[in-house]
Order: sequence, then structure tokens, then C-alpha cells
Amino acid sequence: MLSDCAENLVLIGFMGAGKSTVGRLLAKETGRYFLDADALIESAQGRPIPSIFKENGETFFRSLERESAEWLARCVRGSVISTGGGMPAVVERLHAMGRVIYLQLPFEEIMARLGPEERAKRPLFQNPDKARALYETRRALYERQADIILDARMSPRAIVEAVLRQLD
Ligand code: S3P
Repeated sequence: MLSDCAENLVLIGFMGAGKSTVGRLLAKETGRYFLDADALIESAQGRPIPSIFKENGETFFRSLERESAEWLARCVRGSVISTGGGMPAVVERLHAMGRVIYLQLPFEEIMARLGPEERAKRPLFQNPDKARALYETRRALYERQADIILDARMSPRAIVEAVLRQLD
């Protein structure tokens, strides 16, 4: 049974940190719907993120991302929301969307987890050196916005259990 309009839980973290996998499980365990901000943008645009980047550029994508965050904060409750890795860089107050949970993962682990197919879906993960530099600039942004920080090297189940303990 889905719970009534509970506070949203917002997952942040770098590409490949496991936000969608953990998010689905967390949603199931807490009686919330799972929403993926990137998937909302793709569905509204009718095209995948690489095409948006290619055809309209990153600045345009960021404006869509900001718009989706504003809508989520205004209109959505009772959900687990997975954000794109760059959302904390363009949205100042993620708290407006709900409780913010940062999945923290070392860059080496991210590299190991993201195979060629997964990298192809991510325009900003085409060059590993550039991705590492981006990772370094993002760390402080994630930490600053997080209510809860979790080590994402744990299994999705262990992460969800840790979140549940911290929500009590
Ligand atoms: C991005 C992360 C991606 C997606 C876009 C840009 C980023 O989402 O929003 O490719 O700037 O880190 P994931 O974190 O789900 O891969």
C-alpha cells in the first residue's frame, strides 16, 4: 500500500552511484512512488538525454533540470526522487523537494561500475579525466545539500536499511 503524501526522499550523488537502484528499493520499502527526474525530462522532451545535449546543449538541459526540480518541489509528495548527478549544481535548495540523501561513492568504484553501455547514456562521462575533474568539483556541492550521507559501497538493501534507521 502506498502511504499518504509522505515527505519526499531525494537521492543525490554522482553518475553511477546507484541512485535509481537504491531509489526503487527505498520506494518499495517506504510505500512511496519512485520518480526519476532525468526520466521525467526525457519523457517530456520525447528524446533521450544524449540527444538533448547534442541538439540543444548542456545549458538548455540544465534549464529543464531546474524546471523539473521546481515542479517536483511544488507538486509532488509521497515519492522517492532520483536526481541527475548535476542537479545539486543548478538547484540551490534541494530541501524544497524533500529529505536529501547523498549516496557517496569513490570515483574508482564509479569507473568500475559504469560499463560502456552506461557511459554512452551520459554525455559528461565520455572522457574519464574530465569525469574525474567534475566529480571533484561536485563533492562539496553534494555534501552541502545532504541531510543524510551514506557510503554507497554497501549493498542497495543495506543502504535502504541505513536510511530507514535515520528516518526514525
Ligand atoms: C549528469 C548526470 C546524469 C544526467 C545528465 C547529466 C551530470 O544523470 O542528468 O547526463 O551532470 O552529472 P545520472 O546521475 O543519473 O547519470
